[in-house]
Parts: sequence; structure tokens; C-alpha cells
Amino acid sequence: MKYSKFIPSISIFFISLFPIILSQQPYIRQAITLCESTDNSTSALGYTCNGLNRSCESYLTFRSTPPFNSVPTISTLLSINRTQLSRLNSVTENAIFETSQTVLVPVTCSCSGQYYQVNTSYIIRQNDTYFSIANNTFQGLSTCQALQGQNSQLTQNLNPGARITVPLRCACPTRNQSDGGVNYLLSYLVTQNQFVSSISLLFGVDTGRTLEANGLSEQDFNIYPFTTLLVPLQDRPVSTQVTAPQPPPPPSTTPPESVPPPSGGGSSRTWIYAVVGVVLVSIVVGGVVFFIKKKKKSSETDVTTISSKSFESVEKPLKKEEDEDSNEFLDSLSSIAQSLKVYTFKELKSATEDFSERFLIKGSVYRGTINGDLAAIKKMNGDVSKEINLLNKINHFNLIRLSGVCFNNGNWYLVYEYASNGPLIEWIKHESEEKILNWNQRLQIAMDIATGLNYLHRYTSPPHVHKDLNSSNVLIDRDFRAKIANFGLARSTEGQEGQFALTRHIVGTKGYMAPEYLENGIVSPKLDVYSFGVLMLEILTGKEVSLLYGEVNMQLSEVLTTVLYEENGQENVKYIVDPSLQGNYPPELALLLFKMIDNCLKKNPSDRPNMDDILQSLSRISSSTMSGEWSISISANSTTPSM
Ligand SMILES: *[C@@H]1O[C@H](CO)[C@@H](O)[C@H](O)[C@H]1NC(C)=O
Ligand SMILES: *[C@@H]1O[C@H](CO)[C@@H](O)[C@H](O)[C@H]1NC(C)=O
Ligand SMILES: *[C@@H]1O[C@H](CO)[C@@H](O)[C@H](O)[C@H]1NC(C)=O
Ligand SMILES: *[C@@H]1O[C@H](CO)[C@@H](O)[C@H](O)[C@H]1NC(C)=O
Ligand SMILES: *[C@@H]1O[C@H](CO)[C@@H](O)[C@H](O)[C@H]1NC(C)=O
Ligand SMILES: *[C@@H]1O[C@H](CO)[C@@H](O)[C@H](O)[C@H]1NC(C)=O
Ligand SMILES: *[C@@H]1O[C@H](CO)[C@@H](O)[C@H](O)[C@H]1NC(C)=O
Repeated sequence: MKYSKFIPSISIFFISLFPIILSQQPYIRQAITLCESTDNSTSALGYTCNGLNRSCESYLTFRSTPPFNSVPTISTLLSINRTQLSRLNSVTENAIFETSQTVLVPVTCSCSGQYYQVNTSYIIRQNDTYFSIANNTFQGLSTCQALQGQNSQLTQNLNPGARITVPLRCACPTRNQSDGGVNYLLSYLVTQNQFVSSISLLFGVDTGRTLEANGLSEQDFNIYPFTTLLVPLQDRPVSTQVTAPQPPPPPSTTPPESVPPPSGGGSSRTWIYAVVGVVLVSIVVGGVVFFIKKKKKSSETDVTTISSKSFESVEKPLKKEEDEDSNEFLDSLSSIAQSLKVYTFKELKSATEDFSERFLIKGSVYRGTINGDLAAIKKMNGDVSKEINLLNKINHFNLIRLSGVCFNNGNWYLVYEYASNGPLIEWIKHESEEKILNWNQRLQIAMDIATGLNYLHRYTSPPHVHKDLNSSNVLIDRDFRAKIANFGLARSTEGQEGQFALTRHIVGTKGYMAPEYLENGIVSPKLDVYSFGVLMLEILTGKEVSLLYGEVNMQLSEVLTTVLYEENGQENVKYIVDPSLQGNYPPELALLLFKMIDNCLKKNPSDRPNMDDILQSLSRISSSTMSGEWSISISANSTTPSM
């Protein structure tokens, strides 16, 4: 079997992990495939009966899959009251669900011996194995180990037609959880490309608490499809939490403040991030349009946007007046930026102990504590209206959140969410010995960046191009999720699909700028695709862009020639992938990524894939990584450009 590579290392992992999983329910990980194992420390046999109550109201999720895609068939399969199932999902009793839709299932969970379970029954069909029943039919709501434990028939000798008991995985809150306000545990079926943080977000639950409930940690949070993740809920779940449209990723409508902090958890548990990567502040501020400290004449106001059709200037050069304008702008903020808080300078001074050195992160960015939460405070001068306007319109997990502004004495102060693991560049350069990302983290970061850009390109109104994507402008939060920052150069591409604009004012970061932009000032989403390719190359090789150019004579794509276009090129993968991964990555998938990067770096923008295509390739690669199916063919990647 393809996943067999995984098993030895994983079982060793479990043994070493055992001592720290005492109070919560341990996450099952890939023990789902170890059908012979009777090790109960992995929760493969079920969640331990360690709750406050021996029986409780609890919830499961199930993915609608024909023939189990309607209220009647799902309630029969899971032995659930049909009325209650339809009510919980706000549908009629005969409703048919869309395929892959998440269905909420209300159950009464109770102790049966050592483990919590809900019983249902199942009639064996030809060719069924305990694994196929648990994984394919019940999607991971049960396990082969639990089925074997419950039905003492010989392992693979299942007689078609026989009825077996299927214990479904559920649990009741422990005293500790109950004291912390948790009233229900939901057994959430993980699908591909989901993360503890994204699942927590669906239910408005703090990621830290979900990690805790599953014996996971900030260092160890990988989850796999066809496993259950316990989500600790305060209130009963509602169908809108799981039926919210998935693509495009919904903006996170639950502000983090609405999640009650766990008792005793303190502010370190809340959702905060730091903006750190402002190495290139000077360049960003180069995009400045109105300068408060006079001088700077024509060259700076020469930012002319020309629509590709009419060649008319559609964007007036902005005014460069003094403080009155800024004050007017500040006044008008309350109408443009309803969700934005306007801070007084005094508040920011007390948050940073008068902008003391101790709170300086880098450049002009400070860490501050506002109302008990960490925030990043960036001091800027020049025109910040574009960044504020844009950030105020967008609300996406992968784009840094602007929470407030302040204007004082000619300077702007922007207050952002705090990303505690700092800019990606520090992880690429391995700034300290611990700063090494593993393969899964790198893939996840790539997916996050692609998701954020895709949102910016397709779902903001009007669509925007970031224009300055680089490894200093991507910030890593405490869960190692990536957030794109520094929208100072972002530009809208108003108009029809595939439209582009021209500019004579070339700004950006050396090494990341696409040739058509450098040469002709053409602005389109394909600009970001190019930069994304460069960034991915940094992530995979562990080398900063300057080193990449240095090594190969100013020709980035030559790095790729050795692996993609030479005989036995596949052999060369190991010579360009970051050595600090120490070989812990699937070379076949690394090769697919290099192929994708090569497409992103195509000279002709229309030969490059768009962010949507990239996201799909990454999803496939990521799911192959997760399921351990590393040997998939290269042709699976055909990121055919859509233009
Ligand atoms: C695992 O099984 C052993 C013996 O069967 C039992 O003593 C122990 O409590 C179990 N552990 C858990 C976590 O259920
Ligand atoms: C435990 O049972 C008590 C009494 O039935 C009930 O009031 C309480 O809500 C239950 N607690 C949990 C966490 O289910
Ligand atoms: C199902 O639930 C409804 C509402 O809770 C109840 O009225 C009905 O009697 C239940 N049906 C069965 C078969 O238990
Ligand atoms: C579930 O099935 C097991 C084994 O058949 C049995 O011991 C247990 O009592 C059942 N639990 C419930 C709640 O019916
Ligand atoms: C069961 O497996 C056999 C051989 O592997 C195959 O010929 C048969 O069609 C399968 N039956 C079903 C119902 O899938
Ligand atoms: C588990 O079931 C799913 C859905 O049928 C399937 O796609 C997947 O390959 C199965 N996993 C394994 C390891 O067979
Ligand atoms: C739950 O247990 C953790 C440690 O296991 C502890 O830090 C936390 O304070 C406890 N919470 C409550 C509400 O007792």
C-alpha cells in the first residue's frame, strides 16, 4: 500500500508522545490505518470515558456522499432520529444534500466500557473489510480497531449479510473543559486541506482550545482526512457554520474578541499576530503619494495609471497637502472605515511605553499591548489612504488584519493583528537554529499565500494586485499560518477579466518583479503570480532571492533547468531542495512544485497559471503529502494556463 512508508515513523512517534497525553482525548493521526494495533493511547479504539458525565448530548459531522446524501439515508446509516437530523440542518425530512456538503448529526454519546460511543449497525457487503467500512462508508467516524474490538469476528473474514455493531466516535466534556465553559464536543470529520485553525474558525472556537482538546500542540498540529477532530463548543452547533460557502474562503465574520478567553488562559491564548516584516519600508513608502514633509516633486507624483483601452489617465495624482488634509481624512475615516478604531496617540504611547526600544520589532514597527492583546503598530508617513481603504474592505484569514489607525504630528500609525512567528524571510534564512520549517509547514504556508492572493485577485471589489509580494511581506502566526502584509503598493485592476493597467512608476522589490512590469510597467494579477513563483523557490530551496540570482547568473529559471529539463533531472531535486529538510520530503512532490514554479516564472504573463490554478495544484500536492501517496505522476500537475 502506498501509505506504508508512513507507518514505521508514525508508530515511533506515538510511543514518544504517550506520556503527555493524559487528560484530553488524543488525536488519532494516521493510526486509522494501523488495523492490527490495539494500542489504546492513540484513541483508535475510541475516546476514553474520562468525561464529567457518562452520557451527554454530542454532535458528529458527515459528508454527504451518494447513496448517503439525503436525510433518510444518512439517518438510517447512522441510526439517527430523522426529525432531529433535518431540524439541525434546517432542511425537510426528505431533503437531499449536495455531494460533499457537511451534515451535522445530533447524537447521544455514552460510555460503553472504557470508551465513549454511539452505536449504529451495518450489514456487511461483499469485499468489505473493517478498514473499508470504517474509512470509506463511515468516513472515519469509526475505526477498524474499534470495529474489531466490538465484533469479535476474525479479522478480514467478514460474511456478507451479517450485521455488525458500528461504534461511532464521540466524547463528553471533561471536568476541566466543562469548567472552561465547554458544553458539547463535536466529532468533526477532517477533509483535505483543512487545518485545526480553519476548523476552529468555522465554529468560532479558539484554536488553542481545539488543539488542547485533541492533545495537539502548536508544534504538532497536523491533521489528516478521514479522522475526527474534537471541537469544544459552548453552544449547540448550527447548520450555517458548516454550510458557509467554501470556495471562495469566507471572510472570518467572527471577530476574535467574541471568543471568550479560556479561564486562566490569559491574553496569550487570544488571536493575535505581529506585523514584523517591514525590512523594505523605504520601498513601500516609495509608493507614497502625498508627502507630509514637502519637497519631492514631479518624480514622486508621476504615478500615472493608464487604462489599457482609452489610454486616459483614470487616477488623478493625489494631493500633497499638509496636515489639514490628513485630519480631514482622519475625520472621514469613521465613514469609510466603520470597523476601524481610531486610536489617540496617548493610547499608543501607553501601549508601547512611549515607543520604547524594548518594544521595537524592526524598522518602524513596534509591538504594543492594547486592551490586553498584542498588536503591531507601524509608524508611517506619506499616503496611507490606499492601504487603509483596501484593508478595511477585506477580511480574510490570510491577509493581515488592520484593526486601527492613529494620526499624530505628521505621522500615521497603523495598528495590525500580531503574527508571533515573524516574517517568512527569517524562516527562509534560518535566522536562528530553531527557525526551520518542515515540509508540511512549507506547503501550508504556500497554500495560505496562494489563498490570500486568490482572494485579492478574484474576490475583492474591485480586484486588486498586491504588487510587492516577497518573503518579508508574508508573516507567520503562532499556528504557522501565513498572512500577507504590506498593501502599500496594492493596486486595483478595475475593468473586465484579464484586464491590465500600465504605470510609469516602477516600484517593488528587486528579484520578485515580473519582466513585463520591469520593462513596460504592465500591471496585472500575473505580476503576483511571478512573485509567488520566486517566493516558492525561496521556500523550497531555503535560499533568499539574492542568493538564487547570485548562483545562476541573473537567470532565475536556470535553477529549475537542472531538475526539469536535464536527463535524469529528477535525481537533481535533492541538490536544490533546502538541505535543512534533511531529506524529509517527498522528492516526487517537490518536483511537481518545481514544475509549478517554472510555470509561474514564464516570461509571457499569459503563459503563467492564475492563482486559482495554483491553488488547485497545491491542494493536490498537499493531499498527496497528507495521505502519504507520494508517488503520483508528474502529469497530474498540468497547471495549464487559462489564458
Ligand atoms: C488502555 O488499556 C489499558 C489496559 O487494557 C488500560 O489500563 C488503560 O487505562 C487504557 N488507556 C486508555 C487511555 O484508555
Ligand atoms: C452533566 O450532567 C448534568 C446533570 O444531568 C448536567 O446538568 C450537565 O449539563 C452535564 N454536563 C455536561 C458537560 O454534559
Ligand atoms: C424523533 O424526534 C422527534 C422530535 O424530537 C420526536 O418527536 C420523535 O418521537 C422522535 N422519533 C423517534 C422514532 O424516536
Ligand atoms: C453499544 O453496543 C455495545 C456492544 O454491542 C454495547 O455493549 C453497548 O451497551 C451499546 N451502547 C448503547 C448505548 O446502546
Ligand atoms: C469483489 O472483489 C472481486 C475480486 O477482487 C471482484 O471481482 C468483485 O466484483 C467485487 N465485488 C464487489 C461487489 O465489489
Ligand atoms: C478512505 O476513504 C476515502 C473515501 O472513500 C478514500 O478516498 C481514501 O482513499 C480512503 N483511504 C485509504 C487510506 O484507503
Ligand atoms: C485545564 O487543564 C489545563 C492543563 O491540563 C490547565 O492549564 C487549565 O487551567 C485547566 N482549565 C480549567 C478550567 O481547569
